[in-house]
Amino acid sequence: ATVRKIRWRVHLATGAPDCFERPILLVNGELSPVLEVVQGDILELTVRNDIPADYPTIDPGISIHFHGFNMKNYPWFDGVGGIEQCPILPGKRMTIRFRVNEMPGTYQWHGHNGADRMDGLVGPLIVRPRGAPVVPVKYDGERTLVLNDWWHTEAAALAMSLNRPFDAARVTKDSGAWAWTNNPQSLLINGRGFYGDCAIGPGGSTALPNCTVPQYWVPPGRSTVQPQASAVNPGCTHTNVTVAAGKTYLFRLISPTALVHQSVCFEGHEVTIVAADAVPIEPIKAPGGCVDINSGQRYDVLLKADQRIGNYWIYTQAQYRNGTPNGYAVLRYNRAPRKLPTTPPPQPGTVAPWTTEQTAQIVMSSVLLDSKDKSAGGGVYRTAMSKMPPATLTMLLNITQPLMNQTGQLRWAINNVAMQSPPPCEALLDLVYENPKWFEENVVPASLYNKPNTAFNSSALGVQEAKSGRIDVFLTTNDKKKNPPPIYPTAGTHVLPLKKGEVLELVIQNLNANSNNGDYRVPAGANRTAQEQHPFHLHGHHFWVVGSGLGIYNAKANASSLNTVNPPLRDTATLPQGGWVVIRFKADNPGLWLLHCHLFMHQFMGQLLVVAEDIEGIQKLERPKGLPECPATCVYNGAPWS
Ligand code: C2O
Repeated sequence: ATVRKIRWRVHLATGAPDCFERPILLVNGELSPVLEVVQGDILELTVRNDIPADYPTIDPGISIHFHGFNMKNYPWFDGVGGIEQCPILPGKRMTIRFRVNEMPGTYQWHGHNGADRMDGLVGPLIVRPRGAPVVPVKYDGERTLVLNDWWHTEAAALAMSLNRPFDAARVTKDSGAWAWTNNPQSLLINGRGFYGDCAIGPGGSTALPNCTVPQYWVPPGRSTVQPQASAVNPGCTHTNVTVAAGKTYLFRLISPTALVHQSVCFEGHEVTIVAADAVPIEPIKAPGGCVDINSGQRYDVLLKADQRIGNYWIYTQAQYRNGTPNGYAVLRYNRAPRKLPTTPPPQPGTVAPWTTEQTAQIVMSSVLLDSKDKSAGGGVYRTAMSKMPPATLTMLLNITQPLMNQTGQLRWAINNVAMQSPPPCEALLDLVYENPKWFEENVVPASLYNKPNTAFNSSALGVQEAKSGRIDVFLTTNDKKKNPPPIYPTAGTHVLPLKKGEVLELVIQNLNANSNNGDYRVPAGANRTAQEQHPFHLHGHHFWVVGSGLGIYNAKANASSLNTVNPPLRDTATLPQGGWVVIRFKADNPGLWLLHCHLFMHQFMGQLLVVAEDIEGIQKLERPKGLPECPATCVYNGAPWS
């Protein structure tokens, strides 16, 4: 196989992607470089962390995750700091080496340690087919659009504000109080945009209607902020996407956002969706030329440049986050004047999100391959696109937003457990690999083995909810007797063990924020009933999205709204506000895989768990050499492997 060697130097720079200067993370001097690989190639990516050690972070070091890649046989290179590897500390490097067995299509790479994603450590990841594509789509050219949300405050500061006590009674002078990150200051298209609603065009030359003077953060000592050009946005301008009249383009739409679920629209043009999360779907027109894309998701769409030669808006609008300014780029036909479109820029609040029914109708089905079809890429591609097997195991995951009793922190919980990462003494995967028995007896649930767990007694993230250091795992079914819900929310390393060959169906239920957790200490007046949507992402797999709907899931009543014939196969699916989503996947990939809400804020506040899949299978893998060493300052709290 061809070995594709790439070297990345991750470093700190000053950049002004939205014309506002701030510290930013770049790769080889570039914001969001494209990582392109060919199916079957061996990717050898050497990443060097050149970020100064004193740059504020919530978790020192970096790691790179290949979002949407199943990483079969390579769980150590899935890139989750603390879980699969220890992070690459400042001044250190790591070589990631694996065979790309993934389906051809559109993915993304991003940092998966601390909050690096929000400092710019994200970009497109594209897998090209080795030979002819299995599901051929005809087009003349390709364009990639990275649709990101952007703050003027550094990631670590934003994240830390979420870590402070929410409960007023717990706030001290030292701790300070919980503070929301607020909406992003801008939506970027390919790393360029404009802060506020004030300006678009080279040098911020054209004022938009409803322009208000920056209502956002202003650096100390300055009363206003002038648009800044920088290496990442030299002209302080928007992105121009050029097309030739009469040609058809494949647009790869990629959302790595930290918070925003958005609609991306193409003025005056129809677009046809042909793939979702790298999986071909039955082609379908996007209503109104707009595609609804959640954090972590990707869509491939076809756009035919069949309008009058001119300039047209490409714009993105945040959903459910009112007050977020739109993002703008220009679709420019060759030979059109180098100007902004003549129509006024579309304003926020003009595009409705897809309803749950629309989502189900639009992303109706994956293209099923005939079992006789000897498709390129061999087994992986074909197995993934074959028929969904019946479930052998069903679990209910209740999503709540508890207030932790001991610390007064506001968290997100899955089955009442807010994830607390183990101390970074050793990657959890190494622990499983080296000491599976110990892992199974101590880390894997007390609820399974009826033993209290004292393995981790850390105060990572400052969460010390479980006094015993108990790691709680609740395999919740609807049977209250078998699995009584815990009364109080717990912080712990949330592990969901899964045996090889099981077909797991997960019913993810969005409950009212703060409902059902037995927490009576809700501050008076706090609005805790608001619902939020959550893009659920699973590592190590694509999963079938069996169905999704509003209200409380009921297997009988909702049976008719499930698609068990040819459901879409994705790696990130929306859990709607006040609703549920049912996903299914087969345990055929030994490793530790995260399941989490892809909104960074929610993930950081505990909305994740680790699927410990086929622990015996993990033993049979070969642990790669040269993985980063864990920090020497780690305290093991008396665990047996210290
Ligand atoms: Cu792109 Cu764990 O996520």
